[in-house]
Amino acid sequence: MKRKRLQAAAELLRDEAGGDLDCAIVLGSGFGAVLRDRIAGKTIPYKKIDGMPLPGVAGHAGEAHIGMLHGRRVVAFSGRFHLYEGRATDEVIYPVLAAAHAGAKTFVLTNAAGGVNPGYHAGDLMLIVDQLNLTGTSPLIGEDLLPGQTVRFIDMVDAYAPHLRELARQIAAEHAITLHDGIYAGLAGPAYETPAEARYLRTIGADAVGMSTVLETIAARALGRDVVGFSLITNVHGTGAPTSHEEVLETAVRSAENVARLVEGVVANL
Ligand code: HPA
Repeated sequence: MKRKRLQAAAELLRDEAGGDLDCAIVLGSGFGAVLRDRIAGKTIPYKKIDGMPLPGVAGHAGEAHIGMLHGRRVVAFSGRFHLYEGRATDEVIYPVLAAAHAGAKTFVLTNAAGGVNPGYHAGDLMLIVDQLNLTGTSPLIGEDLLPGQTVRFIDMVDAYAPHLRELARQIAAEHAITLHDGIYAGLAGPAYETPAEARYLRTIGADAVGMSTVLETIAARALGRDVVGFSLITNVHGTGAPTSHEEVLETAVRSAENVARLVEGVVANL
């Protein structure tokens, strides 16, 4: 981890936000556009942020929306880095680290996920109450601690902050949005799960499965930050239907508005 670059990235985020960030938002596939217009500020391409990995050719937008949202200084990252692209864990968590070093105390992580809970339907929203890190790796592996990390062994009880979960439920109720409580399993991907793998995930307690978020949560917790997470269920396993990226993106785009309402509600009440 190049600390100078991280400091420079944090300084840029602070400068653009007009002070210490309150909150960082990571937008999942298909949610890119939703918050952009609501944040009063600027859009900065990742290439202008020191040390930020560059999005791959087929990758997501790769830009940070920085400014004010409901009276809070926020950055919303549109485009994240995944293990399945061959990224190192340092790259996967770089946006989280940069925002944390720019002062962000709260992280709102969003993703598109496949449902393994048979009660879920495409388009449903899930509040992440806990996670299964099944990626086989961790951003905390290594000789050095993360910049800003002070203890080696990180507690992961209530990794998703109870007070933010409660707040999220209230916001959902206010907007009449159905929000399941569920456990998110994070895998490396990029193959979608076989029916046997989906059944296995269900057996070990997962409600949804995806290819992101879990390492970001570990990094944020290692730095003592609060995390709240939302999964948009874009497809459901166990129906016999194949899983396609097109279906995932279509559903994400269709339900992005509800995700935005939840994120905005949380930010407004921090
Ligand atoms: N599996 C893994 N990741 C996903 C899925 C899925 O079914 N849907 C959206 N992201």
